[in-house]
Amino acid sequence: MFMVRSRTSFVCQSCGAVSQRWQGKCEACGGWNTISEETAGAGIGAQAARGTKGKPFPLEGLNGVSAAAPRIVSGIAELDRVTGGGFVPGSILLMGGEPGIGKSTLLIQTCAALARAGSRVVYISGEEAVAQVRMRAARLALADAPVELAAETHVEDILATLAQGPRPALVVIDSIQTMFTDSVESAPGTVTQVRASAQALIRFAKTSGSAVVLVGHVTKDGQVAGPRVVEHMVDAVLSFEGDGAHHFRMLRASKNRFGPTDEIGVFEMTGAGLAEIANPSALFLAGREAGAPGAAVLAGMEGSRPMLLEVQALVSPSALGTPRRAVVGWDSQRLSMVLAVLEAHAGVRLGQHDVYLSIAGGLRINEPAADLAAAAALVSSLTGTPLPADCCYFGEIGLSGAVRPVIHTGLRLKEAAKLGFHRAVLPPPPGESREAPPEGMRLARATHIAALVADIAAAGSAHEEARPALRALK
Ligand code: TYD
Ligand code: MG
Repeated sequence: MFMVRSRTSFVCQSCGAVSQRWQGKCEACGGWNTISEETAGAGIGAQAARGTKGKPFPLEGLNGVSAAAPRIVSGIAELDRVTGGGFVPGSILLMGGEPGIGKSTLLIQTCAALARAGSRVVYISGEEAVAQVRMRAARLALADAPVELAAETHVEDILATLAQGPRPALVVIDSIQTMFTDSVESAPGTVTQVRASAQALIRFAKTSGSAVVLVGHVTKDGQVAGPRVVEHMVDAVLSFEGDGAHHFRMLRASKNRFGPTDEIGVFEMTGAGLAEIANPSALFLAGREAGAPGAAVLAGMEGSRPMLLEVQALVSPSALGTPRRAVVGWDSQRLSMVLAVLEAHAGVRLGQHDVYLSIAGGLRINEPAADLAAAAALVSSLTGTPLPADCCYFGEIGLSGAVRPVIHTGLRLKEAAKLGFHRAVLPPPPGESREAPPEGMRLARATHIAALVADIAAAGSAHEEARPALRALK
């Protein structure tokens, strides 16, 4: 008699590549410690091979009536905006962010707000002791909120606890990297554990109807540590960003099955926790040094919300063979393109200059409308010509030097007018649309980048003696 030995293979838990033996590093995706042994006789397909029959289920049409997903509204408007109107019951959301950015703070504030409004809310901390969480709550003046709290990392125990009592509206797991389940043998913190724990919690969310938030740490390059697959498993991925030097924090959805992905929530880290910033433009422009060369105000958009930001440029003769190009908060490829277009189509030679570009306030922007503001800031810095303090810029620059229309012109102008701007440099209107500008707002249509450069250079020519950099212009 002999036994059939089940065949085993080694599968990368991050990318799914199969290798013949165990390795520390997956050759396919480069992940470390992601390979684990799996029995070939298990998994989907194996059952069919053994002849087990599935149960048929009815298929349904697309136009059936399903109740609109009700929402669990936190009352923190900046958060509710990003989730698309509140948490969806039975959904699972991953909140990523670097350590210390304020994930735990935001979530304890959210829990407290919901608990005060009468919902059952459970906060499971796998990183901090109960006393630590309590201390933070006390500091945030939230200690009286009826949040149910535990410091626990064992998924089976957590699920057993959650099964008792009424169904919680919201469960926060802080963080998924600290969780472990008995269903797999790997050590806590490994990819396999993170994935299996996430799976168990997702199953809980789907079956119980509670909304579950998983906190996830991100690695240096901005990805949620652990398997990418967790991002695919959840309904929404929010990332909390901001840099240490600034107090602003931006919450962004990079995936959302129940709402938009281009909305951002803006917060400020204060001594009393995260404060909502309902009017970010005013904040981002505060402390602006109007009249300094190299700064241009962009009338930008973040999702459906207009936002005014300062684009700062510093252009200076380079002592290096290869001049430096450094960008903060914008795309360096985009900067290279704008520089190339300025050189090719407007005669602005920056090949011997170091170029630095930064978005003030620590925000990251990625809309093409920033091109025109960036170009204005660069030329302003090169020529030492301050731009008018009451003027804002937006428009995409094409490779031919033409300035191309962007969306939401009306919203941008209205926001600019609200903040006291009287002039806007913008692309020609597309087709027929010719909306009247807000009252007191003068529009300068820039059709070509050369016109913008000529205007700025003309404004600065009165001071030519004092500004030798002007000679860099043709
Ligand atoms: P935290 O929420 O613990 O970050 P994460 O969970 O993302 O790791 O936030 C920690 C930081 O926030 C810490 O550096 C201190 C700061 N902080 C404040 O400035 N004010 C506050 O009221 C709180 C609670 C934290
Ligand atoms: Mg934390």
